[in-house]
Amino acid sequence: DGAHLAAAAQRVPSVRTELAATFRTALHSAFPAISVEPIVVATNQARHGDYQCNNAMQLFGRMKGKEGAPKKPTDVATAIVDALPASSMIAERPTLAGPGFINVKLSHGWISERIHSMLLQGIGTWAPPFKYKRAVVDFSSPNVAKEMHVGHLRSTIIGDTLARSLEFCGVDTLRINHVGDWGTQFGMLIQHIAETRPGGLEGTTTEEVSDLQKLYKESKARFDADEDFKARARAAVTRLQSGDTEFQETWRRICEASRNEFDAIYQRLGVHILWRGESFYNPVLKSLVEELIERGIAEDSDGAQVVWVPKEKVPLMVRKSDGGFGYGTTDMATLRQRIQDEKAEWLIYVTDEGQAGHFKLVFGAGRRWGTIPEENPPRIDHVGFGLVLGADGKRIRTRDMGAATRLVELLDEAKERCKGTIKERRGDDISAEELDESSSIMGYGAIKYADLKNNRKTDYKFNFDEMLNLNGNTAVYMLYAHARIASIVRKVGKDVNEVAKTAKLSLDHPAEAALGLQVVRFTETLEDMFIDLAPNRLTEYIYELANLFSTFYTECKVAGSENEDSRLLLCEATAIVMRQTLSLLGIKPLYRI
Ligand code: ARG
Repeated sequence: DGAHLAAAAQRVPSVRTELAATFRTALHSAFPAISVEPIVVATNQARHGDYQCNNAMQLFGRMKGKEGAPKKPTDVATAIVDALPASSMIAERPTLAGPGFINVKLSHGWISERIHSMLLQGIGTWAPPFKYKRAVVDFSSPNVAKEMHVGHLRSTIIGDTLARSLEFCGVDTLRINHVGDWGTQFGMLIQHIAETRPGGLEGTTTEEVSDLQKLYKESKARFDADEDFKARARAAVTRLQSGDTEFQETWRRICEASRNEFDAIYQRLGVHILWRGESFYNPVLKSLVEELIERGIAEDSDGAQVVWVPKEKVPLMVRKSDGGFGYGTTDMATLRQRIQDEKAEWLIYVTDEGQAGHFKLVFGAGRRWGTIPEENPPRIDHVGFGLVLGADGKRIRTRDMGAATRLVELLDEAKERCKGTIKERRGDDISAEELDESSSIMGYGAIKYADLKNNRKTDYKFNFDEMLNLNGNTAVYMLYAHARIASIVRKVGKDVNEVAKTAKLSLDHPAEAALGLQVVRFTETLEDMFIDLAPNRLTEYIYELANLFSTFYTECKVAGSENEDSRLLLCEATAIVMRQTLSLLGIKPLYRI
């Protein structure tokens, strides 16, 4: 929309990118014969300055032994510093450290100005620009009549954050729920219903269908134990897939019942997603495989059709020996549909890490097929994640109970516990509606945050006490920090937008400067997040932000101080980046707790 485009036009590069541009100029003028990309990184220790340029060692290596080559890397570093163009960003002449690191301190005035213009023009100007216009994020994707387990919860949370981040950057993002709604389980399930329910398929009421978990378990037990039932179940799949109306109607009802269950969870979590299950691709699978065979990409293997991918030990199966299509065939179809029809320039698939092998095969096969073109290929990522473990360190089993029920219970418990915490603080000074709303935000936020803060590839322990800790790296702590800032702003009692138009922002106290620097690092945090699609970059950022704010607030008086206006602006800027980061994490802010 218009507002978005306007923001896009005024976007500012990240601090790191802008500093790198300054160093690019210096590198080029000091060493015109050698072309290198500037290596500029944030330092991890304040005594090394704010950023570091690390090109000197590399350049020294490239020139060594040549005529007139510098004697030591620090000579190279000095030459780079000498060639730096005048820049309002850099506070003073950079210092050298170690074998040739160049340490840069940013000018406080420059940081203040950057923050000030964000206050005037909005946080949208701090979204990193992208060359991708359209993305597809495939996430959540539970299986109908089977289970929506904690793995699907992880996929939902991570996928939603990736989609939110892309949307914030102005990328048109299609969120797809690749629901498992088309497999052998349906033959089994429908046959079982037809044989055991009074009145058969027609007698099945919606209530019964909503008890899918039970029906699924019963039918699975029969399927495993009874050869004759197995044969009838297989025949039922064929009947369903060839369009039998009665079977299709039952299938539709089963999907609808599952969908209602899943939707209840999405609604609680505030996740929007398009239901486009495996069945969507069914009509194209037959001809897709025929094309692969005709072009010699798929080959026979004991009656099945498979596609071999360079360097992989196993092939991708695209047609089973009984003529049926599977998960792999459908995913070949998703590739083509998303690249050709949806015109996606970036495809993301979010599933457990256990499917990494599957996606390697699918993407490899897609390249052989040509659906992923060699020239200008779209960016394609499989975003894998680890397991969720119980407090005992063992995998959380959701088989024994209705898994969706278990998920709902987890959400309920988080919310209830937060209700207790908030009540303790506010006593009677809170309405029932506010209490309900705030404890949902806090409870569901806590679950999301506890998930997102881990490196996504590692397993993590699901632990209520830890995720609801008021003082740790938790959503609860972040929500308190935000509410605290909001209350300071309220206490000053001025219209911040008006103050921003007239007052100056300055970062004189070291605690102000440290906080200001963290605020302007918002953009590069998002850049880093997109490199390896790691939401924990966002949680690390906001945690550090909250800590620096807390130091600032301990050391610097805001309301009633002589720096009141400037500090008010710094508070507001902190609150804005905090809210934006929370929003990317799928967490609504609280203004009062
Ligand atoms: N339904 C699958 C599962 O539960 C996940 C689907 C992921 N998306 C895909 N295009 N394969 O594991």
